[in-house]
Amino acid sequence: MGETEHASGSRLKSGIDIRRVREADLDHIVGLDERVTELAKPDYWRDIFERYATRRVHERFFLVAEASGDTPEFKVLGYIVGEVRGWEFGSEPCGWVFAFAVEPGTRLQGIGEQLFEAISTEFRSAGMKIMRTMVPRQNQLHMAFFRSEGMVAGPYIQLEMELDW
Ligand SMILES: CC(C)(COP(=O)(O)OP(=O)(O)OC[C@H]1O[C@@H](n2cnc3c(N)ncnc32)[C@H](O)[C@@H]1OP(=O)(O)O)[C@@H](O)C(=O)NCCC(=O)NCCS
Repeated sequence: MGETEHASGSRLKSGIDIRRVREADLDHIVGLDERVTELAKPDYWRDIFERYATRRVHERFFLVAEASGDTPEFKVLGYIVGEVRGWEFGSEPCGWVFAFAVEPGTRLQGIGEQLFEAISTEFRSAGMKIMRTMVPRQNQLHMAFFRSEGMVAGPYIQLEMELDW
């Protein structure tokens, strides 16, 4: 990763700090997620905060990117959330990324990459050799981003069926 080995609380490339989430960030995260998905989910994010930022934090990583320096107004520009999961689906423990977004107005400036590198470093420090995520097959943005970071198709496929009601 760039200029640092540990993401939490440390400064990365100029202009952006990557650190662990704080409770005061939650409103910003709910707003950012709503701008991306057009759905406000305050209860969901409160639950994610409680689960991924307050317990077992040596293997759960909820990181945010914020503008560093003398910015007049504090602002979360992006977030990434993931955790170590093990022995499910016959897999040895690995790092899973399951939530990730950058503020629409500040994309294509490397913030997503810095968040991705920061959580990769956390997983590596936790002893993981593999990091995974899941993307919609037709979503070209997701595919372009994750492939550009070096991710490739893994050994599993997702199976599903509709449940009769
Ligand atoms: C995916 C996302 C997090 C990327 O954030 P970002 O800060 O714009 O990404 P970066 O600037 O670090 O881009 C890194 C690389 O990803 C690829 N990439 C990013 N956005 C791209 C786009 N719109 N089209 C093509 N490639 C793209 C590029 O290869 C880019 O490297 P380059 O700029 O040197 O060409 C952001 O677009 C986003 O929040 N999207 C909506 C939510 C989402 O899709 N989340 C991910 C899955 S849950």
